[in-house]
Amino acid sequence: MRHAIALLTHDLLTALAPRPRPADLVAHFTRPLPLTVICDLLGTPRVDGDRLDAWDDAMRSVTAMTDAEVMAAVDEMTGYLAGLVHLLLEQPERYELLCREPALIPGAVEELLRYAQATVGANLRVSTEDVVLGGVTVREGEAVIALTSSANHDERVHHRPDLLDLTRDTPSHLSFRHGAHFCVGAQLARVQLQEALSGLVTHLPTLHPAGAPDWKRGQITRAPRTLPVGW
Ligand code: HEM
Repeated sequence: MRHAIALLTHDLLTALAPRPRPADLVAHFTRPLPLTVICDLLGTPRVDGDRLDAWDDAMRSVTAMTDAEVMAAVDEMTGYLAGLVHLLLEQPERYELLCREPALIPGAVEELLRYAQATVGANLRVSTEDVVLGGVTVREGEAVIALTSSANHDERVHHRPDLLDLTRDTPSHLSFRHGAHFCVGAQLARVQLQEALSGLVTHLPTLHPAGAPDWKRGQITRAPRTLPVGW
C-alpha cells in the first residue's frame, strides 16, 4: 500500500498548500490520511471526516474488526501522526534535519515511536501461573500492568533515553508491544508515518507551529485535537 499512501499524502498536501494560514493540520492531513487508508484497506468507499456515520455503517457491513477496534486503530494512527509532527515542530531544527536528510525518516519514525509517550503505554495482563519478575513473585491470576512507555525510556537499553535523537542508531521500542497481541497494523502504521513525514518535508519544508495545539483530554492516546500550522 506504500505507493497508494504516497499518492494520497501528495494529494492531501497539494490541497492543503494553497489554503489560508494558519490551517489545522489534524483536519486537513493527520486525520484524513489514516481514515482513508483504513477505508482502502477494508475496501469501503473513501469518505471525508464529516460523513463518519456513513463510514461507520459501511464498516459494520464488511469487517470482523469491531467498531471499537477500527476506531481505536484510526484514533491511534491519527493521534500518533499528529503527536509526532507536533514533537518535530516543537524544535524547528528537528524538522529542518529531516528536510535536509529525508533518508533519516525511517529511523526517525522508530525514534519518535520510542520517545513519544503518545499512549498511556500500559496494557493489563493477568498471570496464568506463578512467575518471578525482577525478583518479585507474581501469583497466578494476579493482574500486571506492563508499562511499555517506561521500557522505551530504559537507560539500560537506550543511551540517554530522554533525548529525542532522530539519528539514533536502530532505536528499538515496545510502542507496538510484543508477543501474541503485537499490533497487527504495525507495518501499515510505519508506512503511513514514513510517507506522511516524507510528504511534509517535501511539500511544506517551512512548516511551523502557528498557535497552541488543543490537546484531547482523558483519552488513551495523548493527541492534539487541532494543530494550527503555517508554512
Ligand atoms: C502508530 C500507530 C499505532 C500504534 C502505536 C498501535 C499500537 C498498538 C498496540 C500497543 C497494540 C497491542 C495492544 C495489546 O498489547 O493489547 C495494538 C494492537 C492492535 N492494533 Fe495497533 N497501533 C497502531 C496502528 C494500528 C493500525 C493502523 C491498525 C489497523 C489497521 C491497528 C490494528 C491493531 C489491532 C487489530 C490490534 C489488536 C491485536 C491483537 O489483540 O492481537 N493498529 N496496536
